[in-house]
Amino acid sequence: MYPARVVSGMRPTGAMHLGHYHGALKNWVRIQNEVESLFFVADWHALTTHYDEVETIAQSAWDMVVDWLAAGIDPEKASIFVQSRVLEHAELTLLLGMTTPLGWLERVPTYKDQIEKISHKDLTTFGFLGYPVMMAADVLVYRANQVPVGEDQIPHMEIMREMARRFNHMYGMEKDFAEKAEAAAKKMGGKASKQFMALRTAWQEKGDANALAEAKALLSSAGSLSMADRERLSGWLEGSGRQILVEPEALLTEASRLPGLDGQKMSKSYGNAISLRESPEDVNRKIRTMQTDPARVRRTDKGDPAKCPVWQFHVVYSDDSTREWVQKGCTSAGIGCLECKQPVIDAIIREQEPFHERAQKYLDNPAYVREIVNAGCDKARRLAQETLRDVREAMGLSYG
Ligand code: TRP
Ligand code: SF4
Repeated sequence: MYPARVVSGMRPTGAMHLGHYHGALKNWVRIQNEVESLFFVADWHALTTHYDEVETIAQSAWDMVVDWLAAGIDPEKASIFVQSRVLEHAELTLLLGMTTPLGWLERVPTYKDQIEKISHKDLTTFGFLGYPVMMAADVLVYRANQVPVGEDQIPHMEIMREMARRFNHMYGMEKDFAEKAEAAAKKMGGKASKQFMALRTAWQEKGDANALAEAKALLSSAGSLSMADRERLSGWLEGSGRQILVEPEALLTEASRLPGLDGQKMSKSYGNAISLRESPEDVNRKIRTMQTDPARVRRTDKGDPAKCPVWQFHVVYSDDSTREWVQKGCTSAGIGCLECKQPVIDAIIREQEPFHERAQKYLDNPAYVREIVNAGCDKARRLAQETLRDVREAMGLSYG
């Protein structure tokens, strides 16, 4: 019933690398062409774990946004904004917290894990425990139906869906729900209204699925209804309450198969990353010195691509015939490693050319970036305020 919408966020961890690009950002660029998209800098999320390293947030946030734009996020198509500048995220976090059982949060697999793993700092904080509540608010506040995330975020998505369901169940059943729904049906106009009532009866009393489909079609073609009335009627038709919050689905993005230069996970802190806007010279140097199959010490030693991180780069960057050339050449010692790396170097440099071009405009004129983010914040705030109005009303907070 609500318009299709995608929301996703990333923590501001600084300049992005190719792992981020192939793991998430590339998908965002595709998605923005398909559906209304909102992408935000999750700066409050960064504070849930990095509350003692606040000096880097601002620079990281701007660098990250420039990288998004460089990668092809188009501000004409998608909205880019900063979480902490849309205060409705905080309000909904607070309100969702009222009905979220502690058990749901304590059971998140990463919660205890992280507390134990990150031993150099105290993560037994309210903020860290409540992070999935905030993440839920980030999405529910826009009534988004799809959320592009990595597999590691699935438990958070599950909680988010539970929260929406619980909220609708608890607050969507207004006391005077039936009266309000009937009043809304009247607003459809005499004939449509009668027809809608009849179809609803046919569905609810006889389970006539055609009637349900017809009633839905009738509802979506009815011009004169407010969003709230539409939702009421939709819930009333199906026998549930009003859908105030939307249960979103995870849009799973395949984990990046691009490892770091040493075969471990690519990460700036491991020193094994290629940044999204690396200079061609550095791409060349980094790939030429990157690790290969350790068994291939001399040019005449045969190798095994399965044991070589360069091969993973070929999987991402090369076509079938190049890959075949690698497989044959490596296992027969027919090609040298530098030779093998050259197509990867060329492909990365080619991929990054438009990134550099797009970024230049923003590096020359940082005010453009601020403008884009200002506009994104305004848009996000408008959408979020609509939801909050309904949420406040449902929770008994619109008085005075
Ligand atoms: N938790 C996500 C991460 O660490 C970032 C994030 C915060 C997010 N809020 C979100 C992602 C809402 C999608 C939707 O990667
Ligand atoms: Fe790796 Fe290519 Fe060298 Fe084989 S030839 S070890 S795949 S770099």
